[in-house]
Amino acid sequence: MPTRIITIDGPAGAGKTTVSKRLSQKLGCIYVDTGALYRGVAFEIMRQKINWEDDHVLEGFLETLDLNFLMEADRLVLMSSGRDISDYIRTPEISMLASSTSAKPQVRSALLDIQRNIARTKDAVFEGRDMGTVVFPEASHKFFLYADLAIRARRRFDEMSEETKNLSRVQKDMEKRDNNDSKRKSAPLKPAEDAVKINSTFLTVDEVVEKMLGYIEKAEQA
Ligand code: DC
Repeated sequence: MPTRIITIDGPAGAGKTTVSKRLSQKLGCIYVDTGALYRGVAFEIMRQKINWEDDHVLEGFLETLDLNFLMEADRLVLMSSGRDISDYIRTPEISMLASSTSAKPQVRSALLDIQRNIARTKDAVFEGRDMGTVVFPEASHKFFLYADLAIRARRRFDEMSEETKNLSRVQKDMEKRDNNDSKRKSAPLKPAEDAVKINSTFLTVDEVVEKMLGYIEKAEQA
C-alpha cells in the first residue's frame, strides 16, 4: 500500500514547523523538516570552507557528503558523517548560506533520494519549499502556508534568544531569503497547482491544523 504523504511548503516564518509537528502528531505519523538537510549542507560548506560557487569543487564536496536522518524516539535527528549536527544549524548565517546554496541544482539532486527514501516506508508530513512541486508531486495532500512578511518576522524574532534580537535585521534577512528561494531557477518556492493555500497571518497554530485536518478528512471521504 502506498504511504500517506502530506506536504507543507511555504516561506520562512509562516508557521510550517509548528504546524507540521502538530499535524503529524494528530495523524500519528512522522514529521520531516527538509530545510534541515539544506542547513546541513551549508553547515559542512562553512565548516570545511568549501568554495561552493565553483561547480567542480561543489560536486567533489557533495560526493563526500554523508548526511542522513536518524530516527530517535519520535523525532528525526540530522547526522553528518555519524555526528549529530542538529544543534549547529539554526544560526542566521547558516539560514542565509542554506538559502544561497540550495539554489544549486547539484545540491538539490544530492538530497532528493534521502527525502524520497523516507517516504517509501513511512507515512509522513514533509515540510519544505518544493515538496508538493518537485519532491512529491504525487503526495496524498498538499498545503502551501504563507503569511505577511511583518508577521513572519515578528514570529521568528519572538523565538530568538535575547542577545541576537533585532527585528529589522530579522525582517530584512527573511525578505532576502524569500527572494532567493522564490526566484531561483531550480525548484523555486511556489505552491503546487493542486495545493490548498492557507494564509496564517490571522490564524493560530491550532486553527491552521484544524483547517488542514478538515481538508484531509474531506478529501479522504470523497
Ligand atoms: O525551512 P528552512 O528555513 O530551515 O530552510 C532553510 C533554507 O533551505 C531555505 O531558505 C531554502 C532551503 N530549502 C529548500 O530550498 N528546499 C526545501 N525543501 C527546504 C529548504
